[in-house]
Amino acid sequence: MWPNLEGKVRSVTWFWLFWASVITCGILYLINVLVSEARPNNPWGLSYGIAATLLMMGSAVYTVRRRAQRIASKYRLGSTQNWLQFHVYGGSLSLLLVLMHIGFRLPSGTLTWWLFILTVWVILSGMAGVFLQKWIPKILASGLSLEVIYERIPELIEEIKQKATQLVEDCEAPVRGLYSEQIAPVLERPELKLIYYVDITGGMRSRLKEFEFLRGVLDSEEREKLDRLQALYQTKLELDAHYTLQKTMRCWLYAHVPPSLVLLVLVVWHVLAVWYY
Ligand code: HEM
Repeated sequence: MWPNLEGKVRSVTWFWLFWASVITCGILYLINVLVSEARPNNPWGLSYGIAATLLMMGSAVYTVRRRAQRIASKYRLGSTQNWLQFHVYGGSLSLLLVLMHIGFRLPSGTLTWWLFILTVWVILSGMAGVFLQKWIPKILASGLSLEVIYERIPELIEEIKQKATQLVEDCEAPVRGLYSEQIAPVLERPELKLIYYVDITGGMRSRLKEFEFLRGVLDSEEREKLDRLQALYQTKLELDAHYTLQKTMRCWLYAHVPPSLVLLVLVVWHVLAVWYY
């Protein structure tokens, strides 16, 4: 099968498996409230709690699987893509099971409040991550002409700055003036700008108005230098767009991963506390 098609079939299968599990959980919970009480510590509630814990632990295995490519392919431990799907759908299902475990009531103790808040946070931040992972590459590809690795951005900007400085050395006063007023400050460092979330070009058209104006009053040799300067400036603005959006993805990881690790520790603590007392 074509790799893309295979990936699509896989994600559609996981999608329907997820909804089938949600419906099964709903039916189970309905039977539960009809025949018994919805409480965390009766056999029904404990089963939901155990299932939620297993799904959370299973979700966490994804991070190990991602780093163990060789062992996983040697022992056929499943593809990273399948583990990611389990991570996303299994993790989401764990929220429903947690809510069933506590009978759709708010928690009463300190530890259980923390567990509740962290579960909701990790799952919602996970969903935000899925959205960002789909949306960011799409808008970067839609409006920009270059692809770039985040780590290389500062070094590429430094190169642009050097090239631009050299170029303006032999330019006449109008171009040098434009450079020192409008371009040089922008070439100093990568800049985070909110505008890239709504307009991936960063308002390029209005930023190029000065260039347009100068082009009309310069001779052909200066115009050619101005064009080269404009190309460097536009590349810098594209690098800023990459910098802003790729940084968002990195910051998102900080919002998702550390709380998820705290959650796992607290879940283990909670299970041990229930087990021993
Ligand atoms: C209890 C449940 C969860 C835990 C413990 C957890 C934990 C983690 C950890 C540790 C990572 C970092 C993986 C790595 O880079 O090695 C991660 C990544 C991620 N998580 Fe979760 N997560 C959970 C639930 C979810 C849910 C419900 C979603 C989505 C609905 C989600 C979406 C993601 C995404 C998109 C990534 C980035 C995947 C990648 O690019 O490799 N997570 N999670």
